Amino acid sequence: MTQTLQVDLGSLALVEGGYLLVKRALRRVAPGERISVTGQAEGLDVDLRGWCRAEGHRFLWQSAPVPARGQAHIVAGSAESERWAGFSRVAGEAGANDEAVADHPPRSWGLAARGATVEAGAPEFDFQLADKVDVWTDDAARIYQVAAAAQWDPDTAIAWNVPFVLDDDLEDAIVQVMTFLIENETAALIVPSRFIAQLHPHFREVMQVLAVQAADEARHIEVFTRRARLKRIRLGRSTIGGQASLKTLVEEPDFAVASFLLSVLGEGTFLSLLRFIERYAPDPVTAAVAKLAAQDEARHVAFGLAHLTRHLEREPGLRIRLADAVRRRHNALRHVALNDEVFDALLLMAAGSWDHEALRQGSQRVLRLIHDMDEGRRRHLVRLGFPEAEAAELSALHTPNFM
Ligand SMILES: [Fe+2]
Ligand SMILES: [Fe+2]
Repeated sequence: MTQTLQVDLGSLALVEGGYLLVKRALRRVAPGERISVTGQAEGLDVDLRGWCRAEGHRFLWQSAPVPARGQAHIVAGSAESERWAGFSRVAGEAGANDEAVADHPPRSWGLAARGATVEAGAPEFDFQLADKVDVWTDDAARIYQVAAAAQWDPDTAIAWNVPFVLDDDLEDAIVQVMTFLIENETAALIVPSRFIAQLHPHFREVMQVLAVQAADEARHIEVFTRRARLKRIRLGRSTIGGQASLKTLVEEPDFAVASFLLSVLGEGTFLSLLRFIERYAPDPVTAAVAKLAAQDEARHVAFGLAHLTRHLEREPGLRIRLADAVRRRHNALRHVALNDEVFDALLLMAAGSWDHEALRQGSQRVLRLIHDMDEGRRRHLVRLGFPEAEAAELSALHTPNFM
């Protein structure tokens, strides 16, 4: 016969943490086996009896002579072991690779950490994005890590006080470009934020990438606003065409399609735009905000490409849906005018002055930008498995609003 497990609480009362020692001892014995508890705390017998009743253990008390107040025998009940052993599930593995992450995590895993043991009967959450194929990439963990380490402080990363004076028209052009960037960044913040709320948190790294992406866009909005307001109170124009184009992104319900239109085509095009602004900026603040935003955008494009590549490998039919989405969007926007204000502002910025020769050079630079944007989109489309000809066709149908 094995010896009964003894717990001596000394003067420790049950509520002072004594119950934790009793609990620990009970976990070490099987249901039906007994442990003994001794102690001198006032009312230990009463406390222990009540606790045992609540926890489903049988309680027997044995008075003892002073100084010990008594000894309890507790026969372990099966409530806890049944609650956790028979009716719980482990929410996948704790790693961040393909094997650790479940293909179809049940909605009843809810908010539980991946790798946690989930009690049966937990409430189901209404996560719309609950299939791995739709969202996952093993690159998410790395992209999140890089993004978290690359966060910059808008206040210190840019020399806001560096003195410069631009010609009024040139300053107006920069303010117009910033106004345009801000509304585009706002769409880029809203789109991932919407999907975070629909995503099963089992896909933790994807959730984290989307969250840090939204934080990136929040910073972009801040720095473009600060640059716009550096010398001016009033911002530039927001056009119907620009808003209509962005509305199609903000309202796109499908994660794959939204990522494709926003991250691959839109932010990909924006990368060329931001590098162009950095290169031809007439002042150091404009160059700095464009440069910092471009660094972040490159990650947004990389994540879009990574999860869509995996998705397309497993579901090649998605390629047709993505192509259709570009054509549909083009049709929806075909009566919408181009964003002349932005075009003109970019040209003047790239020219640097009203001088004829400068304007000629500025217009050539803008043409080269349009060419670079197209080339970038075609390269990304080919990487996603679109044939060259279709990549060229789809790139040409991309919104003239850039995003
Ligand atoms: Fe951005
Ligand atoms: Fe972005």
